[in-house]
Amino acid sequence: MRAIAEAPSKVIITGEHFVVHGAWALAAALPRRVRVEVAPANSFGVSSDRFGEGDDAQLLPVSRVVDAMAREFSVSSSVRVSISSAVPEGAGLGSSAATMVAVAAAYSRLNSLRLGADEIVRFSMVGEQHVHGNPSGIDPNISARGGVLLFRPGSRPRKVALDSSRTLIVSYSGRRRSTKGQINTVARMKQKHPGLFSMLAKGVSSLSLEAADRLREGDMEGLGGLLAVNHAVLDTVGVSNDILDRMVDLCASLGSYGAKLTGAGGGGSVVAVAPEAKEKSIVSGLSARGFETFKVEIPSEGVRSWSKR
Ligand code: PMV
Repeated sequence: MRAIAEAPSKVIITGEHFVVHGAWALAAALPRRVRVEVAPANSFGVSSDRFGEGDDAQLLPVSRVVDAMAREFSVSSSVRVSISSAVPEGAGLGSSAATMVAVAAAYSRLNSLRLGADEIVRFSMVGEQHVHGNPSGIDPNISARGGVLLFRPGSRPRKVALDSSRTLIVSYSGRRRSTKGQINTVARMKQKHPGLFSMLAKGVSSLSLEAADRLREGDMEGLGGLLAVNHAVLDTVGVSNDILDRMVDLCASLGSYGAKLTGAGGGGSVVAVAPEAKEKSIVSGLSARGFETFKVEIPSEGVRSWSKR
């Protein structure tokens, strides 16, 4: 008997970084997924299509998730975990959270634990904390629950229901970076300018609530304006850089309604919204400059799991 789970990647539409400090953020699950298979074995082991056998960077956080679940439910941690991923690493698209969520869901399925999204998130956070230090929890929440969510730590996530699909453009700079380092950059800014930081966090929090309304109403032009403002604020707290600013400017010159960095910044990806007639030229314009760019339709479903004999 084996168990398989597939968990979606994500894009943060607004509010990253400030969400770590209590602001609302808006995120959507993306169709690109991480697939995890868990099977009983003689000892614990992890392999991945990207890292091969037993790479420490993957093994440790995954083993933390499995150990935490094994202890809590008194089940065996001797399992073989096989990971295959269609999500680029370090791209701000939630690859590590999707992996942890899929591990927790597959391990739950293997042991017939019947865990719901809250529990899957709780256990995937054990691995996320190992990778990122002090994450807000937005990544595992969106990956486990799917759809579009307003999230802030300590509140119940709010589902944003869409009457039809919406198109986003996501473009990867090709530059990997550490989320932990970026979170520390923002923490230093907060320490240096606490008054200013608190004002910006309040502003971004209401910006996220407004962005959810714009998205729900299908007002992509309005949403684009908010993305542009959010990018400027992220730049102010030190997490943008030349390449991301250039990508955002390029989106504007190719006719987007607005664009911003998404995720931790310092590299990673950019998210944009645009009039339908411009989407193709934005994707090809960014791709022609070497940035892996794709159109995505949201919403997309959360983690799913099944067993196989
Ligand atoms: O995992 P990333 O790189 O997309 O970044 C997560 C978003 C942050 O707000 C920067 C961190 C967090 O835990 O919320």
